[in-house]
Amino acid sequence: MSKRNMRIAIYPGSFDPVTLGHLDIIRRASGLFDRLIVAVMHNQNKKPMFSVEERMEMLRRTTAGLPNVEIESFGGLLADYARRKNACVLVKGLRAVSDFEYEFQMALANRKLNADLDTVFLMTSSEYMYLSSSVVKDIAVHGGSVAGFVPDEIVQDIVCRTRKED
Ligand code: PNS
Repeated sequence: MSKRNMRIAIYPGSFDPVTLGHLDIIRRASGLFDRLIVAVMHNQNKKPMFSVEERMEMLRRTTAGLPNVEIESFGGLLADYARRKNACVLVKGLRAVSDFEYEFQMALANRKLNADLDTVFLMTSSEYMYLSSSVVKDIAVHGGSVAGFVPDEIVQDIVCRTRKED
């Protein structure tokens, strides 16, 4: 297939850190599109547990078996970044009805900013409905085990980071 005809999708987020819920969406979306760019947002407002580079490295490690998945970072408007990448789709995961209103608003705003950009929502697998990076960080800082919440490859990264913060 020529590069021009490729269907490129972007899965944006903070991924601080990547969870099994994110990985489930990445795996499923990688099967739906020719290329999937997982885009880590630079966010100056939140105080992250991991730097953007660390988050990208953890994502690379956990998606190593998915050849059409690339890990990048972006700043500024997502709609502009998608234009630069020739992406026609944003992938978002939906966990509950409570996610919907905000995501619906963002999808409409992004399409207004970039008329060539559609948002595709994938429903979370039921076992990850409750899962978020915030839940993972909260468990970790209070000394709980994050095994079963995040990919095995990054459990130790979280343990080490949390220990350093003691
Ligand atoms: O994992 P998160 O923190 O829920 O991801 C939020 C993200 C990155 C999808 C969202 O904050 C975003 O799209 N930021 C880019 C800035 C932008 O384009 N804002 C306008 C969207 S309407």
